[in-house]
Amino acid sequence: MKFFIDSANLQLIKKFLYMGIVDGITTNPSLLAKEGANPIEQAKKILKLVPGPVSVEVVATDYEGMIKEAKAISQLAKNVVVKIPMTKDGIHAVKTLSMEGIKTNVTLVFSANQALIAAKAGATYVSPFVGRLDDMGNNGMEVVRDMVQIFRNYGIKTQVLVASIRHPIHILEAARLGADVATIPPDVLEKMFNHALTDAGLEKFLDDWKTLEKKYGDVFKT
Ligand code: G3P
Repeated sequence: MKFFIDSANLQLIKKFLYMGIVDGITTNPSLLAKEGANPIEQAKKILKLVPGPVSVEVVATDYEGMIKEAKAISQLAKNVVVKIPMTKDGIHAVKTLSMEGIKTNVTLVFSANQALIAAKAGATYVSPFVGRLDDMGNNGMEVVRDMVQIFRNYGIKTQVLVASIRHPIHILEAARLGADVATIPPDVLEKMFNHALTDAGLEKFLDDWKTLEKKYGDVFKT
C-alpha cells in the first residue's frame, strides 16, 4: 500500500519524506488555508519537494470552470494530480481530463456507487472519506471493502485512495482490504511508529551493551 501524506505543511512533509516512506501528497483547500500562504505558490513548493504524485484541488463547481482550473493546475509540474469533487460537473471534467492524459483524484466520495462512476470516467484515484463516514455513524471501511472488491471484479485500474484517516487502525484496515493508497495525516503517521515494547526493548538492549563497553570499551572503534 502506498503512503501519501495528507498535509500542505512543508515542515511536516519533510519530517517523513527523508526516510523514504512517502509516496505522494494530498492537499485540499482546507489544508492549504491552514498554511495561510498563496495556495498555488505553496502547491508549487510541495510539488518541487516531493517526487511522487501531489493532489491539488479545483475550487470551481461548474464544468467549464473546473476544466480551466484543472488545466492551470496540470501545468504546475509533471507530478501533479488534479483533485475534482464527486459531482456531475466534476465527473464530466474527469472524463475530459482523463482523455487528455491528465491525472485526476475524485474527492468527497462516500459510496461505492460514486467510486464506480468516478472509475467509469477514467479517474486515476478515487478518495473515500472514511473518517467522515465513521463520524456519521456509518462504517467507512465497509465502503472501502466494496470499492476494492468491485474494482477487482472488473480489473478497474482506478486506485482506491483511502482519505479522511483519523487513527492507525484505519491504516491497518485499509491495508488488510488491499486499498492502493492511504493518505495519512502527519500525527497519525507519527503514531504508527510507536510501540511501548519497542522503547522498553531498546532501553534493555542499550543497558546490556553498556556492561560490555565497561569491559571492552568502544568495540566499533577502528
Ligand atoms: O484530503 C481529504 C481528507 O483526507 C480530509 O480529511 O479529516 O478533513 O475528514 P478530514
